[in-house]
Amino acid sequence: MSIVHLTGQDDPYPVYEAIRAKGAIAEDGGMFITTSHAVCNKILRDRRFGVRFSDGSLPAMNSVGLAPPSFLESDPPDHTRLRRLAAPAFSPKMIDSYRPRVEKLAESLLDNDSMDLIEGLATPLPIMVISDLLGIPDKDTRSFAEYGMLVASSDTAQSPGPLNQATGRITALFERLIDERRRRPGDDVISSLVASEGEQKLTVRELMGTLLLLLVAGFETTVNLIGNGTMAFLDHPDQWDLLKRNPDLAPAAVEEVLRWAPPVHYTGRVAHQDVPDVHHRLKRDNGIYLVLAAGNRDPEVYPDPHRFDITRTGQPEHLAFSSGIHYCLGASLARMEGDVVFRVLARKWPRITQTAAATFRDSTTIRGFASLPVSRS
Ligand code: HEM
Repeated sequence: MSIVHLTGQDDPYPVYEAIRAKGAIAEDGGMFITTSHAVCNKILRDRRFGVRFSDGSLPAMNSVGLAPPSFLESDPPDHTRLRRLAAPAFSPKMIDSYRPRVEKLAESLLDNDSMDLIEGLATPLPIMVISDLLGIPDKDTRSFAEYGMLVASSDTAQSPGPLNQATGRITALFERLIDERRRRPGDDVISSLVASEGEQKLTVRELMGTLLLLLVAGFETTVNLIGNGTMAFLDHPDQWDLLKRNPDLAPAAVEEVLRWAPPVHYTGRVAHQDVPDVHHRLKRDNGIYLVLAAGNRDPEVYPDPHRFDITRTGQPEHLAFSSGIHYCLGASLARMEGDVVFRVLARKWPRITQTAAATFRDSTTIRGFASLPVSRS
């Protein structure tokens, strides 16, 4: 079976292992693909590869479906310029300043005794954090959340209708906010990007693309970090006990969740020239799938790679946040959110129990649960 035939319900790891058995770079269903940690890392850092074809068009494998496209979908120099403008919102100082609010939020979302964890905790937490960061008014966060969900679940681009409508609604919302911030700047990300627009460092179209990216990239991914992590602990009570006894293991637990059950399973790159040293048949404008989730279980890098073990130490960083110039801009924010959530969950819900079967999201790129019913004891 090829990865393109997988569904969100399938266990993809046996398929990744079958591909791994064919070599570090395999040809699978007419495309190049790698499951190797070293090769993923190398290609992601190799400036001979990019996200676009040489004529500037965007291959389907690298399209997030955003209109206008974002810097995740751009190569240098545009990527460098736009990423630099968005980066200040993710400085360590900014992340520290968000932490108390995230703690308060996690505490209050875990006040009841039973819930669907995806609906009650994993979804509202990141959406409120991003809304806060962007300065979205409370009354608009609902349409914001709906849009994020829709884009994240449309990786097969099978239903452009609802997506286009939602994009129209969210674009109108951002246009209104941009207009407001031009007149009355605040201390949020939209205001600082609007100031860059005034200084002609980015166009209004690029501003819109950046805002859409921050919403989409930071939302569903974090939902799945929380959902996948909770499920991992439900399935591994010994690891849950370890975390409860030593809450300071939370940051290591977040890293292990990201390695073992990453929200983003793969990405892609295009060769901008022939690269015989990487693979003799990989030519200019050929694409290659980089299966980050398989790299995270590469036995050459991680001993006993299929084991979920929050006490791992001294191993190279996983690929859940990618690598190279597109390394996740929100990684520190996501890590902080995960750290807070697993600490609060371990303290407030130490006997968390799954109460019914979980359901899977219908996506193979962004993997996780659509629902996960749990109770406090
Ligand atoms: C890029 C994963 C959370 C913002 C990426 C990429 C991955 C990723 C794999 C790179 C894709 C590629 O190389 O093609 C994740 C995961 C997250 C997470 C697993 C949560 C656990 C966030 C958050 C934000 C964010 C919270 C911001 C609010 C971004 C941005 C990029 C990005 C702006 C584009 C970076 C660039 O192109 O230079 N993320 N992300 N992410 N992420 Fe995240």
